[in-house]
Amino acid sequence: MTDISVTVNGKRYDVSDVEPRLLLSDLLRDTLGFTGTHVGCEHGVCGACTVLVNGDSARSCLMLAVQANGAEIVTVEGLGSPEQLNVLQSQFREHHGLQCGFCTPGMLMTGEDMLRKYPLATDEDIREGLSGNLCRCTGYQNIVAAIRSAAALRSEKKP
Ligand code: FES
Ligand code: FES
Repeated sequence: MTDISVTVNGKRYDVSDVEPRLLLSDLLRDTLGFTGTHVGCEHGVCGACTVLVNGDSARSCLMLAVQANGAEIVTVEGLGSPEQLNVLQSQFREHHGLQCGFCTPGMLMTGEDMLRKYPLATDEDIREGLSGNLCRCTGYQNIVAAIRSAAALRSEKKP
């Protein structure tokens, strides 16, 4: 058992007696209550559990909580709020980039990472960037449209 501290969405959490086998996804969901992070496959395949760790997207089911000691983490709850969606979230709503919503937190976190690093991402870049996130409902077209639109709005261009 180990004591760790992590910063999640700008707030520091000190967690005592963390089991070495505890996954970061379980720490976020079960210990800290950030249930916006979804868990699908738990094998690094679906991308539903994607969060930002020190500014890079990461699959939280493939990281141990103890490996995140000292890290800055952003979950989907850190992007915006229901009253004040961020640009990417608002474009998912605008373009209906979701159906059941299970994949959506991971799509948003992957998209956020992509747009921070590649603000002028093309459709090809977006599709490549999303290739590790699986969606069983949408056919991806509207997700790509949402990210394309968010990229344009962030660049202050017309979508
Ligand atoms: S739950 Fe982590 S990649 Fe599927
Ligand atoms: S919206 Fe259902 S899995 Fe993507």
